[in-house]
This record gives sequence, structure tokens and C-alpha cells, in this order.
Amino acid sequence: MGGKCDIELIDKKGKRVDGRTPEQLRDVKIEVGVLHGADGSCYLEWGGNKVMAGVYGPREAVPRRVQNARRAIVQCKYNMAAFSVDERKRPGPDRRSREISKVISEALEAVVLTEMFPRASIDVNIEILQAEAGTRCAGLTAAAVAMADAGIPMRDIPVACAAGKAGGHVVMDLGKLEDNFGEADLPIAIAPRTGEILLMQMDGHLTPEEFERAFQLAFDGCIKVGELQKKALMEKYAKAVPEGNGNEAAKEE
Ligand code: CDP
Repeated sequence: MGGKCDIELIDKKGKRVDGRTPEQLRDVKIEVGVLHGADGSCYLEWGGNKVMAGVYGPREAVPRRVQNARRAIVQCKYNMAAFSVDERKRPGPDRRSREISKVISEALEAVVLTEMFPRASIDVNIEILQAEAGTRCAGLTAAAVAMADAGIPMRDIPVACAAGKAGGHVVMDLGKLEDNFGEADLPIAIAPRTGEILLMQMDGHLTPEEFERAFQLAFDGCIKVGELQKKALMEKYAKAVPEGNGNEAAKEE
């Protein structure tokens, strides 16, 4: 963020470097239930980001000192693969991945009916296979779908999207160059049914008016991606439900 470059991030006609309009998301593709070994999983592509999320649990929280006698905890591990970025990333956790793991854990935990599972842990693994800006949003969005796939009882399916400022304009869903050379990045996560904010971070500078606009764009992005989450889940689970809704036999009796 804030680096110098000679590239025009947005042209006079309002087109961005990757050809998008200021209000346009990158393409998002969501696949549900892709891992055999996890209780729930999701593979998500968001522009050039490629993310795998696997969920385990609810299961007994270990070590025991992390257990809460009254409710479950959500423990998320966000990891960027060494090959996910242009310059090979040193494997293992770092300050950034610990911060992202923490904010995603808190966002997800806010919607889980945790009181149903005292002393349990819901373990969420997010692996960034390819990174191209906005990986915390992509990771959280994939993790939420994986939690739904695992059958974790939730009040809502969290979803995330960023907006920011690049080339002097407020834009939705920053791409790589916009993230590197733009003026501000505002990732948010919401519970779409209520509009509750589950995560909000900001890097860079925005005026109050620009902040309002960026927040609205990020919120609109969340709603759009939320529809894709639901569609992907319906595609998997609609196949599992017999034609009609399975109640025909009950009606005949
Ligand atoms: O990924 P996100 O936008 O949520 O977080 P960030 O810390 O703002 O990182 C922005 C982007 O920088 C990432 O998506 C990666 O494309 C890139 N990055 C990188 O190239 N090497 C790293 N060690 C960390 C991030």
C-alpha cells in the first residue's frame, strides 16, 4: 500500500488496470466439500487468489487450558504457502498470519452457536495457495462455507470483501497493483442477514466521505459474494436432497 508506480491505476474513463469498473468485483468461484479428510471444506478462487479451507469439529479443545467450560471456541490458522506469492515466502507463521488468524477466528466465532458445544473447539485451516491481494477476505469467505459444509450451527454465513482507494478513486475489491500502489484498503466481514460487522480493518488514508463510500462498496461486495456462497452450498446440498423436498412419502402416509 502506498508504493510509487508509473502505472495509471484508473484511466480517464474510470476503467481500472485490470479493466474493471470501480464498483466491480473480481470473478469469484466457490466449490463446496472438496476434501475427504475434513468435516467441511471449500475451495475458492477470487481473482488470482486460490484458497483452500478445511474445518474440523466441534471436537474436544486441546490443550485443555484453552477450553471454555461454557462454550466452544473457534481456532483458525491462516497460512500462506511458500509458493503463493511472487517472492517465495518463508514457510511457517509470522506476525501477519497470526494477526489474520486472530481476526478471522473472532469473526467466525461471533456467528457460531458456541453455547451448544462446551469445551469444544472448531478448528479452521485456511491455506492460501496463490495470493493476489485480499486473501483475508477470500480466506474468511471460504472458511465460512467450509463451516456450513461441516454442519456447524451458525446464525448466519459470514462473508468478507474489501474496498479502498487507488489512483485517487474509491474502488471495490482491490487487485494486486491497487493493493501495492493504492492509497487505502478497507477489508470488512459481515453477517449478511443482519448487516452486523464482524471484521473491519484499514490500511492507508481516507477522508470521512471516502470512508463512507468505501464502506458501502465493501458492504455491497459482501452481499454479492454472500449470494455466491449460498448458491455453491445449494448446488451441493440440493443434489443430496431427493426431488421435491423428500416430504412426498410422508404426505402419502
Ligand atoms: O491478502 P490481504 O490483502 O488480506 O493482506 P495484505 O497483508 O494486505 O497483503 C496484500 C497482498 O500482498 C497479499 O494478498 C499478497 O498478494 C501480497 N503479499 C506478498 O506478496 N507476500 C507476503 N509475504 C504477504 C503478502
